[in-house]
Amino acid sequence: MTETMSPPSSDRIRKEMLSLVKSVKGQVLNAENLYVEVDWKKPVVERKNLPSAAKDHVGQLDDLAREALSCVQCSLAEKRKNVVFGDGNPSARIVFVGEAPGADEDEQGLPFVGRAGQLLTDIIVKGMKLARKDVYICNILKCRPPNNRNPLPEEICKCEPFLKKQLQLIRPSVICALGKFAAQTLLKTETPITALRGRFYDYEGIKLMPTYHPAYLLRNPPAKKQVWEDVQMIMKEIEPGSHA
Ligand code: URA
Repeated sequence: MTETMSPPSSDRIRKEMLSLVKSVKGQVLNAENLYVEVDWKKPVVERKNLPSAAKDHVGQLDDLAREALSCVQCSLAEKRKNVVFGDGNPSARIVFVGEAPGADEDEQGLPFVGRAGQLLTDIIVKGMKLARKDVYICNILKCRPPNNRNPLPEEICKCEPFLKKQLQLIRPSVICALGKFAAQTLLKTETPITALRGRFYDYEGIKLMPTYHPAYLLRNPPAKKQVWEDVQMIMKEIEPGSHA
């Protein structure tokens, strides 16, 4: 007896096409982030073929991103659609560090592009009067944990060297650690975020401000008041003429 399979519904085909388009878009954006623009009048330095140590910090960050894009050091590599290395200005004065990519970020290969990302964008654009492209945004983990579960200690351990190098290369004036995982990982502490937030700490010579994660603010809007206080302290630190 031959079994007949019913053809996929048009809704399923539409969903699959949408997912494919998003994934390709993410990969193109990732590739664009790695693309190095050169002024045609200047002699072209083959940056790609220089040893990493001979490159400027932008070239070294590109090399690091390429390394992360092929990382298979933990099992998150098996299920990811895209590695979410980071996005923004490689010479930013402020770097936001979140927890890990979610479904939207995994789909597009870019950090903070879902609902929490929209809130972070509002904080940057409406609150700080900066453009998203002026700051740099990344995460503790570069790959999505399944079902958005919390990062595991061994995943953090494998992935943290990427973040450490990323922060060393960008060397911002301020790091804003978004939520418990970012703050506790960078500060090597188990102190709760409620106790950590609201003041600066030292992270390898860089000022670090822990604050609540935008996803927490979506669940608990009154906490926006405290985030606004933290953000104002950051703005004071990076305003033109400040010592930072
Ligand atoms: N939450 C995070 O911590 N990072 C993202 O990139 C998105 C949501």
